[in-house]
Amino acid sequence: MTAPTSGRFITLEGGEGAGKSTQIARLKGKLEQGGHTVVATREPGGAPGAEMVRKLLVEGPAERWDGTTEALLHFAARRDHLRSTVWPALKRGAWVISDRFADSTVAYQGYGYGVDRAMLRKLYSIAVGDFRPDLTLVLDLPVEIGLGRAAARRGSETRYEGLPTDFHGRVRAGFLETAAADPGRCVVIDGTQDIEAVAAAIAAAVHERLGG
Ligand code: TMP
Repeated sequence: MTAPTSGRFITLEGGEGAGKSTQIARLKGKLEQGGHTVVATREPGGAPGAEMVRKLLVEGPAERWDGTTEALLHFAARRDHLRSTVWPALKRGAWVISDRFADSTVAYQGYGYGVDRAMLRKLYSIAVGDFRPDLTLVLDLPVEIGLGRAAARRGSETRYEGLPTDFHGRVRAGFLETAAADPGRCVVIDGTQDIEAVAAAIAAAVHERLGG
């Protein structure tokens, strides 16, 4: 089940409105300038089947699913994304940048909804196997700033943005605890800085960790 890889798999994580999409576009451009083939993708989604599951997850009322059902849906979408998009791209030698990956399930469904984290690790092993990101960048910023940015950007809320501020506070803590527990894989970036400063911090982390 583990993907044979010659490319690199980079994930960007963070709460709502952390600025991931902007930074992924910047990082993609920078890596392409350096001669890499880059695939930018996202979760939930990133493949036709996974995008269908995404619609179930981000649309509708906040109370539509319980945390365990959501975790199962996210891992189903994730497996399809890996098999259809990520693993083939890595096999071709591309660098893959994903807007969110499994740390989001730990943060949102685990810390946010209180789903048992041992169960999430089992689901990871079933759906993903031994495969891990080479580098995870966590864009961290206070919840109020992120939710404000997300609302201004979309003009409408997704299911998760509609959840209370304390939910998003737990999500933020989840990302930070995950990063602290796995410093070999994760780098926390201060997302309150301006776009240029965040882009520079990301480029420095990628260079230092992966030599890109
Ligand atoms: P996005 O707004 O970054 O596109 O992500 C869609 C929503 O899905 C976002 O609110 C976070 C949520 N999410 C989870 O709850 N668990 C997950 O595993 C993933 C990948 C996303």
